[in-house]
Amino acid sequence: IGTVVFENSATASKAVAKEIADLIRVKQAQKQPCILGLATGSSPKGLYVELVRLHKEEGLSFRNVVSFNLDEYYPMEPDSVNSYVRFMKEHLFNHIDILPENCHIPDGLLSKEGIADFCDQYESKIESLGGIDIQILGIGGNGHIGFNESGSLQNSRTRLVALDHITRVAASGDFSGLENTPRTAITVGVKKIMEAKRVILLAWGERKANIIKASTEGEVTSRVPASFLQEHNNATFILDKAAASKLT
Ligand code: F6R
Repeated sequence: IGTVVFENSATASKAVAKEIADLIRVKQAQKQPCILGLATGSSPKGLYVELVRLHKEEGLSFRNVVSFNLDEYYPMEPDSVNSYVRFMKEHLFNHIDILPENCHIPDGLLSKEGIADFCDQYESKIESLGGIDIQILGIGGNGHIGFNESGSLQNSRTRLVALDHITRVAASGDFSGLENTPRTAITVGVKKIMEAKRVILLAWGERKANIIKASTEGEVTSRVPASFLQEHNNATFILDKAAASKLT
């Protein structure tokens, strides 16, 4: 596992955007699609700002990009203020030329009985395109990646999960109270994340310092799902100084 420490999240986000832009252009030249695995939350916001800037100011086109978001709350209306569909439109999709039909996000409106089939098809679609080229991740304070909470197995599949109490508390501000915060979500499993050709995990700030240390220097354990990335051959943790402050 690699860790790269930047002065701040803005410079770090620019470097990650450049790596993504470079790959999109290589794939364009090859007339191939570029398959991106995307995350929501606060960590990738600066990355999306920079990708939008590259589109508007430097002519970067996303016409050959196919995206698969990691997760969505369940149940969730796509136009609700807290939906990840809305987040992605507001922070990225509405500002670039990606084709709407190429943007995939787990469906928060499914019936319970439809979830398993949906998840199988989500994975099949990723496989049929040759897998994820670059997977962007954030990390929860408990070490979750996507919504693969503590206890998720390395070979876990895309599925409906129960959110940890600590994850719900972290989200409760957005939902104006814990009682309104979803208890479940649909997440891409650890297996598909581990199959991505390249994994870039973003973490900023002091509040992530302990879990970054545990994930990169601690044992590989399902208690800390991000620690599985130690076994990925092309995973990098992109950190600001505060998030890296506990590393030896
Ligand atoms: C979001 C996701 C989550 C977040 C994580 C960190 O799609 O999959 O794993 O990346 O909870 O959230 P932030 O970036 O808000 O600290």
